[in-house]
Amino acid sequence: MKIKGTTRITGIFGDPIGHTLSPVMQNAAFEALGLDLVYLAFHVTPPELDRAVESIRVLKMAGVNVTIPHKESIIKLLDEVDEEAQEIGAVNTVVNREGRLKGYNTDSKGYLMSLKRDTGFSPAGKSAVVLGAGGASRAVSLGLLKNGARRLVIVNRTLERASSLAKEFKGRFEGVDIEAVELVGDAVGPYLEDADLLVNTTSMGMEGGPALTEELVPLKRLKSGAIVSDIVYRPLDTDLIRRAQKEGFMVHKGLGMLVCQGALSFELWTGRKAPVEVMEKACMEELAGG
Ligand code: ATR
Repeated sequence: MKIKGTTRITGIFGDPIGHTLSPVMQNAAFEALGLDLVYLAFHVTPPELDRAVESIRVLKMAGVNVTIPHKESIIKLLDEVDEEAQEIGAVNTVVNREGRLKGYNTDSKGYLMSLKRDTGFSPAGKSAVVLGAGGASRAVSLGLLKNGARRLVIVNRTLERASSLAKEFKGRFEGVDIEAVELVGDAVGPYLEDADLLVNTTSMGMEGGPALTEELVPLKRLKSGAIVSDIVYRPLDTDLIRRAQKEGFMVHKGLGMLVCQGALSFELWTGRKAPVEVMEKACMEELAGG
């Protein structure tokens, strides 16, 4: 990649940010298409966010991604927010159009796109069990509901958070069976028997953290033919994914969502079709090497 006088900057704002795969993934895509863009990671703390956003305008950056902990707090600093990002209540992509900053969220579409690409799964008429009730769960759950899921069970360690999300969704998606369940003991077991999709949106299963054990999430009770999906991508194969493969379920790994949400951001900034395979390969190589 050649940095020239005309090269425009894109990047990611987050805290912490050192472990992000996005620079490797996006720069590989820019290079593959010969675009005069570069992508850098910026460590931006919460009190610095307003000045960092102003720098998008001042430096005439093409746009940025935003990640933890800025996805919600950036909204009030933007000129405009796209409808889907408003629904999710979070922005992960900002596009700079001549100084006007518009926020988007590519997590929900990115998740569904990768799920479809890797497994052929479409939510219409299906029943899903979603583990987690945070920001990632919001994006994934909304995507499933908007695409016609007939049942959604939100399972969370803190039941209150799952209940409040379920209540909000019930108000918006009448006629859909939406329930909240506590992630404790074997409470989730009976719900797995009716699930076409089980997806983990919690940080459980991440390197160095607690795993989703068979006691907590008994795959032995999961409906035959169901798909097991995990948005955790470090490690590439989480304990949940390994257990699912052992039990013979089709799986959807976390790297897929990362790549597809990144591909959609790329398309918003460049107006070009993203080279998804190039982006995926760059991430795999980075994860294998790191
Ligand atoms: P994100 O935006 O990535 O979803 P978040 O909003 O902080 O991040 O949500 C993290 C999710 O992982 C929550 O559902 C959280 O459960 P709680 O609401 O009970 O905190 C879940 N989570 C994180 N660590 C967990 C653990 N050790 N055991 C169970 N759930 C955990």
